[in-house]
Parts: sequence; C-alpha cells; structure tokens
Amino acid sequence: VGQTMRGRVVFEDDGKTVQRVFLGGMADYLSTIRRSRRIILCGCGTSYHSAIAVRQLMEELTELPVTLELASDVLDRQCPFFRDDSIIFISQSGETADTLRAMEYAKSKGALCIGIVNVVGSAISRATDCGIHINAGAEIGVASTKAYTCQITAMVLLALALSEDSRSRAARRLDIMRGVALLPDYMRRALALDGQMLELARTLVNENSLLLFGRGYNYATALEGALKVKEVALLHSEGILAGEMKHGPLALVDETLPLVVVATRDSSYVKQKSVIEQLRARDARLILIVGEDDDSLDRFADKNMIIKVPEIVDCLQPLVNIIPLQLLSYHLTVLRGHNVDQPRNLAKSVTVE
Ligand code: G6P
Repeated sequence: VGQTMRGRVVFEDDGKTVQRVFLGGMADYLSTIRRSRRIILCGCGTSYHSAIAVRQLMEELTELPVTLELASDVLDRQCPFFRDDSIIFISQSGETADTLRAMEYAKSKGALCIGIVNVVGSAISRATDCGIHINAGAEIGVASTKAYTCQITAMVLLALALSEDSRSRAARRLDIMRGVALLPDYMRRALALDGQMLELARTLVNENSLLLFGRGYNYATALEGALKVKEVALLHSEGILAGEMKHGPLALVDETLPLVVVATRDSSYVKQKSVIEQLRARDARLILIVGEDDDSLDRFADKNMIIKVPEIVDCLQPLVNIIPLQLLSYHLTVLRGHNVDQPRNLAKSVTVE
C-alpha cells in the first residue's frame, strides 16, 4: 500500500500531512471522467470485490452514478455502454480474458477505458486509455491478497483526485487524506492479529461452513473474506450483505454454524449491532470484527471470538478489516493441510473465457 501511494500522495513539509494526490497516468483524463454520464467499475473475482469496496466512496466524492459489472456478465448481456461512460477495468494480472474482452467491447462502444492493473506491460495495461499501476509487486499466490488492498488504495486516490475541485467535499477529502497517511501503519497493526487468527483457525478447522455478514463499506470485506476461505482453505463460505439477512440466510442460523459479523464504527454500526442482537437471540456462534476500543459488543461473544482492529476513517476501514480474514484463511488452509499458494483447480490468471 505504501508503494501504491509512493509519488502519488504529496505530503506537506512535515512529512505527515497530505497536501494533494497526484496521479501522473490520469492527469489528462480527470476532466473527461468528471464530465462523464456515469462511472462503471468492472473486473472478476477479487478485483470485482475491490470495486464493491470503493463504490460508495466513488459515488460520494464524484457525485456521479457508479455501477458495477462483472466482466463475464458484460459480455453475456452485451451491456449498454456509451461514449460518455468512464469504465474502470480492475485486474491484478492485466491478462484475465473476460476483463480484457469486456474492455475491448467497451472500447468498441467509444467509452473511456481506465485500467487499475498490477502487471506493467500486460494486455489490459497496454490497451486502456489511461490508468494507475497499483505497484503491489509480484503476487505469487493464486489467491489475490495484496493486490486487493492496493487496488482499493489506488481507487481511493482516484476518487480523491476526481473530487479535487469540489468545495462541498473539501472537509471530507481532508479527513480521508489524513487517513491515507496513517494507512500503512494501521495495516501493520492489523497484521499483529496473526496469533489470534491462528487460535481462531484452530477452533474452526473442522467446520463445514462459515458465513460472513457485512454492509456498507464492509460488504466487500464479507465477500472477499468468504472468497479467501472458500478458495484456499476449501471450506464453504459465503459473504452476505447484512441487510439481506432476514431474507433467507437467517434460516441457516443455529448454535453450531460459525458467523463472522463486521461491526466497526461507521454509519452502518447501529444496524450491525441490531443484526448481532438478532443473531445472538438465536444462539448464534458469533465471531465479531470490532474497533479496538469498542467494549460495547463484548457481551455478544467469547473474548477470543472478538477481533479488535484499529479504526481509521470509514472508507479506508475495509483495508484494515480484510487483514484478519486473510490471516484466518491462511491459517485455516495450513491447518487443513492444503497448499496456500496453489489452491486446487484454480489459476493465477484466467486467460480463457
Ligand atoms: C483468478 C484468480 C483470482 C483473481 C481473478 C481475477 O480467478 O485466482 O485471485 O481475483 O482471477 O484476476 P485479475 O488478474 O484480473 O485480477
């Protein structure tokens, strides 16, 4: 994440306060994006989850409609794309066939194509009109981890750059920029949860299923945490938008099924608290992700089932919250005797449609 920000986040002389965000590869295109009819975020797998994670912020800062498209679905539906659309293609490898084809399709419709790509010189990074290399370094394991956090970081920077001229958003932008400066340190602190995640993994190693509930900024955290558990630990897991709980998933809840609820303090907190109360009323086995100085949820779960994370500005919190879940899936995988780097049947870059 530090590498993603390097040279793009310009600090004041004190070296701590962020003065502005400068994105060299985007400078000539920001005004075109600001004038577009909508922004579309498009990718596959984890890259699609990073799109979900930044959607809310992108909408808030740009005041444009922001929609999400799974790349394969763009092609299946022959999505209506137009000349005044700005479409952001997100891909770690820059070679994913569905994303590449979706981009070629978007180009044929005259849309502005922006790349959020890790691999320099990859097909998507070459063919997009402009973009940001996330500079996450080589990602060896098949399951995307650092690319996820770096993609979100790059798109937060893009949202900040797009809203640079907005007076009404000035205070909010300042708050976020303060958070951006703290981010690497907060993520390092979240990595210190490793020991607790190993212990937690030991209690979950023989489970058949794990559900994760998130909402708002952390809906993506639930989806991505579940994807990691599913793809590397080979343990069934689903990420669920907590607002949908009563529309089906609640029927699964009993005293045996482990459930993770993300309840860090943002505008969804009160609602997440109510979700926790409803789950607890059904004797659910709860694992909670909460702010490190938040004791108000302690009564809902055993001490070792409460994961306390450092809290940062709301839109950056998913970058911190995903870390214990990535660590959990790592330990679950090792304990279950599987290969963390090479999950069964999966490939690092899927170059066939
Ligand atoms: C594969 C990988 C995933 C990745 C997805 C999209 O399924 O196993 O980790 O998220 O492709 O890849 P991309 O390179 O386009 O981000």
